[in-house]
Amino acid sequence: MRRTTLIALTFASSSIVALTGFVLAKEESKDALPPGSVSRAEGLQAWTRIEAVVTHPRCANCHVDAKAVPIWTPAGESKSRVHGMNIHGGKSRIGAETVPCSTCHVTSTLPNPPAPAPLQAGIDWQLAPVDFIWFGKSGAEICAQLKDPKRNGGRNAVGLLEHLRHDASLSGFIPRAWEPGAGRTTPPGTFEDHVKDMARWGAAGQPCPR
Ligand code: HEC
Ligand code: HEC
Repeated sequence: MRRTTLIALTFASSSIVALTGFVLAKEESKDALPPGSVSRAEGLQAWTRIEAVVTHPRCANCHVDAKAVPIWTPAGESKSRVHGMNIHGGKSRIGAETVPCSTCHVTSTLPNPPAPAPLQAGIDWQLAPVDFIWFGKSGAEICAQLKDPKRNGGRNAVGLLEHLRHDASLSGFIPRAWEPGAGRTTPPGTFEDHVKDMARWGAAGQPCPR
């Protein structure tokens, strides 16, 4: 009974998240560049850098499919493998059905502790929604999905920029990929470089590699 309530609550809160994304998508962003001010070629170059970020383990390990098994890449290992201890995100994506992620990944804005301690963030630890699958996908597939409002939480190019800033304001998962705690690798560039590349890619009309 209690479990059902928890799952229902989780679904309610994830629809609020989706709704917020939609509202934000309509707002202005100080990071956005005028549409058409960036050439397609430059936009594709920006995408190449974005692809290196979104396929990096610090991002892709949470963006997994409906099997809801998080991925980890322990310090000193370069190959990704399934999360130890038989952890499962479940339909709730927060592990409500089995062991909640928050048992180990606490909600905190303090810096991440060194590996192999569990990572933490200013928002509750959870898998990305099942529409946003990146792990195991090609760059071209992720590109097509990231620009499709049906599969990215209803966001246009400006909405995606707003999402990055909103997440950063909460000390969320995205900026923290560049501050994962000693012993862990980081995606190329910086968080600010990633925002600039997303702005360039958006202004170029979100071109994708074929
Ligand atoms: C701890 C797990 C986790 C990590 C790590 C993570 N994300 Fe996410 N991501 C989420 C969740 C949860 C959402 C849904 C939040 C929302 O829509 O407000 C999300 C949504 C997104 C979205 C919007 C939806 C979409 O896919 O179009 C983008 C863009 C995104 N993440 C980018 C990143 C990037 C870039 C990184 C690495 C720098 C990253 N994420 C790392 C969990 C994670
Ligand atoms: C029993 C403790 C525990 C629970 C519960 C747990 N984790 Fe973890 N998790 C860890 C530890 C410890 C690490 C770090 C492992 C390392 O770096 O060697 C980790 C790492 C991760 C990583 C890799 C992050 C990266 O940047 O590579 C992801 C993704 C992750 N956990 C997701 C989840 C999700 C989603 C849940 C809930 C469904 C969850 N975890 C539940 C202990 C736990």
